[in-house]
Amino acid sequence: MRRRDWLAMNAALPLAARAAQAGSKDLVISSANGLKACAKAMEVLKAGGDTLEAAVAGVTLVEDDPNDTSVGYGGLPNEEGVVELDASVMHGPTRRAGSVAAVRNIKNVARLAKLVMEQTDHIMLVGEGALRFARAWGIEETNLLTERARMAWIAWKQSLRGREGNNNWTDGLDSPRMLKAAERLRRQFPQAGEELIAWALDVAANPPTGTINLLALNARGEISGVTTTSGLAWKIPGRVGDSPIIGAGLYVDQDVGAAGSTGRGEENIRIAGAHTIVEMMRQGMAPREACLEALKRIARNFRNDAEVLNRFDINFYALRKDGAYGAASLWDGRQRRGYRADIQFAVNDGTGPSRLEKCANLLERKRP
Ligand code: GLY
Repeated sequence: MRRRDWLAMNAALPLAARAAQAGSKDLVISSANGLKACAKAMEVLKAGGDTLEAAVAGVTLVEDDPNDTSVGYGGLPNEEGVVELDASVMHGPTRRAGSVAAVRNIKNVARLAKLVMEQTDHIMLVGEGALRFARAWGIEETNLLTERARMAWIAWKQSLRGREGNNNWTDGLDSPRMLKAAERLRRQFPQAGEELIAWALDVAANPPTGTINLLALNARGEISGVTTTSGLAWKIPGRVGDSPIIGAGLYVDQDVGAAGSTGRGEENIRIAGAHTIVEMMRQGMAPREACLEALKRIARNFRNDAEVLNRFDINFYALRKDGAYGAASLWDGRQRRGYRADIQFAVNDGTGPSRLEKCANLLERKRP
């Protein structure tokens, strides 16, 4: 068959048939905090569910989990102690998108972003408007600040030092003696164990930007994605990261594949990371290499100055519609609380439990 005839015939094939030719299969990838989320999404895919339904069902588990302090309920709050959430969704088959930003009191913002996509003529709702929209749909309001997150916020407030060491949130001048940070927390939160106190002091000193990004592909070659987060800890109220920005924290193109990000959103927004990666995959780049290429653009924005780059972490994830996938991080590991951890991502290919795979990395942190 001549190439022109083959192209014409292929374009006429339904999406499912073209996907079968391209070798698509049920596949879910996410940031490392998504092992259970990937398993849940795969369960929905195997039951014949839509890829976006699967992705949202997966991340809802993480939004509900008080122990994940980077997403949903239990997320670390802004500088005023209020949790503000961001999320976005993209549905490949219909090429639709929805997002919400700086939302208070609503736990499942991925679902809310999906509702914006499905039930409005808009793409993005923020703050009070997003909250009122949630109320209009009868979504329950919840105090999202857990005791664990409140303790970390207090630790951060107490760690702030003004001129001459003054800080209204620590011991007054009339205190019998000045307490060390850990000792003060132990007294204020007697239920907290040593591990929790060490964690609170760590996140107070190094505000994290954890998030979950999850990308889902089915055997028909349909692809969707979601990114949901509580954003940067101790942020200025109203700060919006990359997660709800279509093209930065998430991008899906049904013709090519999907990409998303976790980590310092400000750097991702400046390079429109997820869109950049999808475009590079469209030009033929493999997912992992496309993620690394996006990271190179971030490094370039700082003239490759390792000292500045060392102050943050950022990760990209990419899934092509033929099932090829990859992920890459700026650094080879995190340097927090005296331990190094390889940067990983979660994968579920439908053959068993979700597994963690190592991300590629652009730079290597000096060994201590
Ligand atoms: N990537 C999450 C944030 O920066 O808010």
